Amino acid sequence: MQAITISTSILSADFACLADQIHAVEAAGADWIHIDVMDGSFVPNITMGPFIVETCRRITSLPLDVHLMIDNPERHIEAFAQAGATNLSIHIENAPHAFRSLEQIQALGCKAGIVLNPGTPAAAMTSVIPVIDFVLVMTVNPGFSGQKFIPAVVGKIVQVRQLLNQQGSSAPIEVDGGITAETLPLVYSAGARLIVAATAIFKYPAGIAAGIQALRSATA
Ligand code: DX5
Ligand code: ZN
Repeated sequence: MQAITISTSILSADFACLADQIHAVEAAGADWIHIDVMDGSFVPNITMGPFIVETCRRITSLPLDVHLMIDNPERHIEAFAQAGATNLSIHIENAPHAFRSLEQIQALGCKAGIVLNPGTPAAAMTSVIPVIDFVLVMTVNPGFSGQKFIPAVVGKIVQVRQLLNQQGSSAPIEVDGGITAETLPLVYSAGARLIVAATAIFKYPAGIAAGIQALRSATA
């Protein structure tokens, strides 16, 4: 059984004690911190900018997995890289210069990810495969945590893996949205190894550590 990487989305964290929340997920064995950047235009919600990335960088040494859900992402790549992002992912739906933007992310020393919304076909990312380090397949429509997993996306994860393999790419697949101990086995079987979760960790009834443990055991 291949190990999963758990990327904890702070969208469901209590920002009144963000440092404590991040230290708790770190102590519980989370691998990455996922930061959801939303602009109220590409997606309906407004959340965090480079300032929060820089804040997280001072709180933890865990990799920062920064998910940009913003229009004109190319205008902000440098600011997020300078703020301390480890991974920077951009959506294919609003990145007309995706190839150049992904190359820019890599040139700045970050891992570059391309993101596909639930309604976007797998083939949309075919031409940027040479310049990506990972693919993020959304399993909800981006905008909010706590949404219901869309099972129809599972087949697309398989297609993305096939397209990557065809080009000799070993880039891992990340999934984001509605991931719980119940839905994780579905995306794992389809080929996802990087797992984003907010609600299933920060709102887990038995606490953060138990939430992470439940996710880890779901593929065991
Ligand atoms: C959704 C965000 C997700 C979100 C996941 O637009 O990209 O990262 O925080 O939240 P859960 O795990 O609650 O679906
Ligand atoms: Zn996200």
